[in-house]
Amino acid sequence: MNIKATLLASAVALTPAFAVAQDLTIGFSQIGSESGWRAAETTVTKQEAEKRGIDLKFADAQQKQENQIKAIRSFIAQGVDAILLAPVVATGWDEVLEEAADAEIPVVLLDRTVDAPEDLYLTAVTSDLVHEGRVAGQWLVDEMAGEPCRIVELQGTTGSSPAIDRKQGFEEGIAGAEGLEIVRSQTGDFTRSQGKVVMESFLKAEGGENICALYAHNDDMAVGAIQAIKEAGLNPGEDIKIVAIDAVPDAHLAIANGEMNATIELTPNMAGPALDALEAYLADGTAPAKWIQTESKLFTAADDNAAIYEEKKNLGY
Ligand code: AHR
Repeated sequence: MNIKATLLASAVALTPAFAVAQDLTIGFSQIGSESGWRAAETTVTKQEAEKRGIDLKFADAQQKQENQIKAIRSFIAQGVDAILLAPVVATGWDEVLEEAADAEIPVVLLDRTVDAPEDLYLTAVTSDLVHEGRVAGQWLVDEMAGEPCRIVELQGTTGSSPAIDRKQGFEEGIAGAEGLEIVRSQTGDFTRSQGKVVMESFLKAEGGENICALYAHNDDMAVGAIQAIKEAGLNPGEDIKIVAIDAVPDAHLAIANGEMNATIELTPNMAGPALDALEAYLADGTAPAKWIQTESKLFTAADDNAAIYEEKKNLGY
């Protein structure tokens, strides 16, 4: 029996035990705390669980897939009712997902996707990661209005679905715009510190005056790069245009200060839709859509970024 059938069967069989949300114990294998966005997702997930009376068992994997696999095995051994997984990379999950399926424990993916058969997880709550990259690319195309532009790219964690998809989307977004080319592209691992280090190397290799724009797969790397650009004696947001993804408070502040130009919002509240889906599924076997898509929204200097910064800064980032 595949996991879909197994999980459905078990949900029906176990309906009385799972009908009350307060009884639920859910394991959450989080990637780590590489970015402000990630920290916010952790905070929001804990708040959502508490609000619903769910006992959340939290495991921070310190950016390592092997730690995530260990955490999932430990959740299975503890007999949790369900597992939330934010997968650090896209590949290498089949075996442990099979183990969860064999134990009849539904797994919900948060914010990133995996290259595994769809029937090994209940649903994935993510944004359209390719679309985010396209929006960033299209923003730059519009901004350049036909002028040429040498672009540097800070990629997210190698092998992660956002790094793969945001790269693809951006390339699609600028395809066909003559004179726009990515001249350097390297991972900054979604961290502020690596964003700065890699931007320094881009500036050294290319010469700051030869870089027209930076596309960063997240805001934290962009914020690190802003520091590197300033230290090189250039004006971020003016000499080098900057577009990134997440819309964390510091990105709004940077845009308000004219040091960054655009960001695409990724909600840190993946847990709300994920727990809604799990509660319904565990209560009566209601199967959610395989993909629960969260919204993406572009913010630019045209928005009131100072006010948005004030609103967002207390939200767990
Ligand atoms: O998977 C979502 C990405 O992971 C966020 O954009 C980034 O900040 C985080 O580390």
